Amino acid sequence: MSLVLVTGGAGFIGSHLTRGLLAAGYAVRILDTLSPQIHGGVPSGLDWLAQPGIEFRRGSVTSHRDLADALNGAEFVVHLAAETGTGQSMYEIAKYNDVNAQGTAVLLDILANTAQRSVRRVVLASSRSIYGEGAYVCRACSPQVRVWPGSRPAEQLRAHRWEFPCPSCGADMEAVPTREDDRISPASIYAATKYAQEQLIAISCGSLGIGFVNMRFQNVYGEGQSLQNPYTGILSIFSTRIRRGLHLPLFEDGQESRDFVHVEDVANAVIAALRSDVTAAAINVGSGIKTSVQDVAEKLSAAFGRAPDLKITSEFRLGDIRHNFADVGRLRDLLGYVPAISLDDGLKRFAAWVGTQPLPEDRSQAANAELQARKLMG
Ligand SMILES: NC(=O)c1ccc[n+]([C@@H]2O[C@H](COP(=O)([O-])OP(=O)(O)OC[C@H]3O[C@@H](n4cnc5c(N)ncnc54)[C@H](O)[C@@H]3O)[C@@H](O)[C@H]2O)c1
Repeated sequence: MSLVLVTGGAGFIGSHLTRGLLAAGYAVRILDTLSPQIHGGVPSGLDWLAQPGIEFRRGSVTSHRDLADALNGAEFVVHLAAETGTGQSMYEIAKYNDVNAQGTAVLLDILANTAQRSVRRVVLASSRSIYGEGAYVCRACSPQVRVWPGSRPAEQLRAHRWEFPCPSCGADMEAVPTREDDRISPASIYAATKYAQEQLIAISCGSLGIGFVNMRFQNVYGEGQSLQNPYTGILSIFSTRIRRGLHLPLFEDGQESRDFVHVEDVANAVIAALRSDVTAAAINVGSGIKTSVQDVAEKLSAAFGRAPDLKITSEFRLGDIRHNFADVGRLRDLLGYVPAISLDDGLKRFAAWVGTQPLPEDRSQAANAELQARKLMG
């Protein structure tokens, strides 16, 4: 039975991936620190780690010893362990660099310096954030020409000019699905560290002859996502507010959009990458569908059986992208995987699960206040 080391495997995506791996006949070893920001000061809800087929080790990817022990005998590595808050990464820079970039470097150091390596293949959880805004076209003057705008300047956002103006004719441009060969332009420290992970793996695994796939996840949601971490997960924040009878604040004009992909589709895509012979590839993992934040707020309210109570705040976060959704052609063509769970169905599943969980505090206002104090929000 092949052994898969899943770093960060006690987290949201890791828990679904582990279930899928066990069902597919793999043995799973998890290395996870059980970060308090994700799992709470006293980690709870982790009984599933004790089930047969799972070997759990509490430890850090930044520790050479923890990681070297965990790698022993593993044939595959799925590298999920990371700090994941985009806003938080802008003022906890050393921590994000340490866990995300340095943790990956430690992993590769061990692989490079182990003579009798068992590892054949590495799959990285990278992120759509590395694209920044992704690609746009101007339907008015040059619909065939892809343009990659930088981030929106603060003056533009203060003037509530949310969309990107075409550099040639000034009309609002339209976002198109982001391809893996589009421009890479990280707009946060988190994104920069995710791209650093990709490059470290591409260069190192490439030279060592270890197969690798860098999978760029879009906005992953679903049962089991952290309801306590105020720095990530718009659907967690919204679900807590819906349950507390609070309105849903929509930044900008609510028309900013994302690509929401259910966690089970992500887990299945990772398993497809482990099984395939595809190597040296970057592959988007998303639904391929553009959904505005207003749309998702309405659908989530409906999934909870509530009338939407939305407030467009016109607030903005510096560095936030306006739109991003994936071209999923490579996922389909290289890995033969097509996401199967629609947003409506996925949100129903998510809302049903949330209803079984303790009601968390609404910490979103405090997280926003922190960004405001640091002048990262307007
Ligand atoms: N969830 C998303 O929408 C999304 C989108 C794009 C990319 N990703 C990437 O997918 C991966 C998994 O994300 P997730 O949503 O499951 O996050 P998560 O926070 O639920 O899980 C991450 C896990 O890593 C663990 N961890 C943190 N620091 C560690 C360390 N030093 N050593 C070992 N374990 C450590 C945490 O305790 C946690 O269990 C991350 O690499 C993230 O960047 C997630």
